[in-house]
Amino acid sequence: PFMTTLDRRSGLALKLQQQYNLQGCHIIRGDADEDPELQQELSQLMAEELQKMVFDNAIISVAGGSTMANVSQYLKPAAEKLLFVSARGGLGEEVGNQANSIASRLAKATGGEHRVLYAPDSVGDSAYESLKDEPSIKEIAELNRRSDYVMHGIGEAFMMARRRNVEAATLSRLEADCAVGETFGYYFNAEGDIVRKVKTIGIQLEDLASKKAIFAVAGGSSKKEAVRAYMKVAPKNTILFIDEAIGEFLLKND
Ligand code: G3H
Repeated sequence: PFMTTLDRRSGLALKLQQQYNLQGCHIIRGDADEDPELQQELSQLMAEELQKMVFDNAIISVAGGSTMANVSQYLKPAAEKLLFVSARGGLGEEVGNQANSIASRLAKATGGEHRVLYAPDSVGDSAYESLKDEPSIKEIAELNRRSDYVMHGIGEAFMMARRRNVEAATLSRLEADCAVGETFGYYFNAEGDIVRKVKTIGIQLEDLASKKAIFAVAGGSSKKEAVRAYMKVAPKNTILFIDEAIGEFLLKND
């Protein structure tokens, strides 16, 4: 029977949702590595889905990345009162791609409020101990624990490590540990084992299970292994936003 490309994509999305036991799955056309417009489509889709799901006083934790950075362009002023919170502190990358500036732009676009994490994301043990009791930081950590939604990108491990200027020794360790993916400071190997975790005052993997939904986004075939690895640990309240290139790969390579 005649099947439109849209039918085919929603069929694929449904299959993946079942295969990976997810709350939802949305797939856009093509391979986002080959067309920057598709990266924008992913951000737009995520914005539209968020807007359907928000309610008055909803708290939304937001992580960084270039895909997350575009979401605010597609959000409309919301009737609901929303609070966007940075899921991560400051990182060694482009300011516009950091959680703090993204949270502020999302709030501005919807007419909501935002709170930022005024601290470096990656900290040493002693800094961590003193920072975590700092009232302004405690407040954000608490908001991230009890937020309703989380929005985050999934990155290819080495692209993220380089973009965030990690030290050469750390890069070699990631190589030795066969890291393939990264999301909010956790690096995974292809089996989904955490091979490195950045000591961060930001959101923790264990904070995710209690959320109403987690919006996880990744586009481009260069991220296919990263997404597959993350799917092994992704909580079942995850709503995945990907492109067909990643979707087809996930279908064939469980
Ligand atoms: O941690 C993952 C990254 O935030 C993803 O970044 O959207 O720029 O690829 P990206």
